[in-house]
Amino acid sequence: MGSLFSKSATLRKNVRISDEEFVQLRDFIYEKSGIFVDAKRKYLFESRFSKRLGELRLTSFAEYITYLKCDRGEELKQLFELVTTNETSFCRDMKQLEAFRDNVLREKLDEQRKAGRLELNIWSAGCSSGEEPYTLAILLLEMLRMEISRWKITITAVDLSSRMIERAKAGVYGEYAFKTTPDAIRRRYFTQVAEGWKIRPEVQRLVQFRQMNLNDPLATKRIPRSQIVFCRNVIIYFDETMKRRVVQYFYDNLLPGGYLMVGHSESLHKISQTFKPLFYAGAIAYKKEE
Ligand SMILES: C[S@@+](CC[C@H](N)C(=O)[O-])C[C@H]1O[C@@H](n2cnc3c(N)ncnc32)[C@H](O)[C@@H]1O
Repeated sequence: MGSLFSKSATLRKNVRISDEEFVQLRDFIYEKSGIFVDAKRKYLFESRFSKRLGELRLTSFAEYITYLKCDRGEELKQLFELVTTNETSFCRDMKQLEAFRDNVLREKLDEQRKAGRLELNIWSAGCSSGEEPYTLAILLLEMLRMEISRWKITITAVDLSSRMIERAKAGVYGEYAFKTTPDAIRRRYFTQVAEGWKIRPEVQRLVQFRQMNLNDPLATKRIPRSQIVFCRNVIIYFDETMKRRVVQYFYDNLLPGGYLMVGHSESLHKISQTFKPLFYAGAIAYKKEE
């Protein structure tokens, strides 16, 4: 009896969303985050939001939209958790990372050495649970070895999702996070703990995490000026207008001669003419000319 009862309680039916409610909710999400949900993915709202509506004891999307509009920010945080896709892993797209390391990173490190300024700022925009910025920190540790103690390196990693930023700060990962990671890297830069694998302090100290909305121009201005911006697999969730806006924020943030790296299936073609694309085997890097 007991198990039957609990099963029926968890088999919640999805709340249906009308076309009009879909448009209202989609526009609200777009206005707040720049994330654009295509009408073909309307069903996603029903599957992702029904549990939240139940928790709030709301019976329709119309009620939920009113609730969101009266909210002072708390529900917005919950909304961001529901609309973001946080797929990531360490060493994601190794070919791209190797091309980045051997060309872009090497060039920037040499340039700084020549200028006698051992400083490097990288912005990881849309960092999810931290695998991308920690991978960049590991690349730097591998390249600089003992020399790293003389460098001032800051990787500023931001994401819309507070939950992801908390996970990133905790720095403990399960098996899934390592699906694209060579074993040697895991052994060198992680310590096994009861809950999984914990990132080592020498990697963690290179990365600063903060919750941030890329749709907030003032917040983007507070990011330190960078030599390199990483924004991989993020702009795919934006429409053309938001893509252009965000790419302009990256351009403004980058120092002259700086580089923007986007996901390997993404491109700035039709989005921005201000960067010069440089083609390497396995990667395109976008350069802000000096
Ligand atoms: C698919 S993940 C990509 C993670 C990582 N860059 C990678 O390539 O492995 C996309 C991330 O972008 C974040 N994101 C989406 N819209 C955002 C916004 N407006 N501001 C900041 N982050 C955003 C999501 O929360 C999500 O964690």
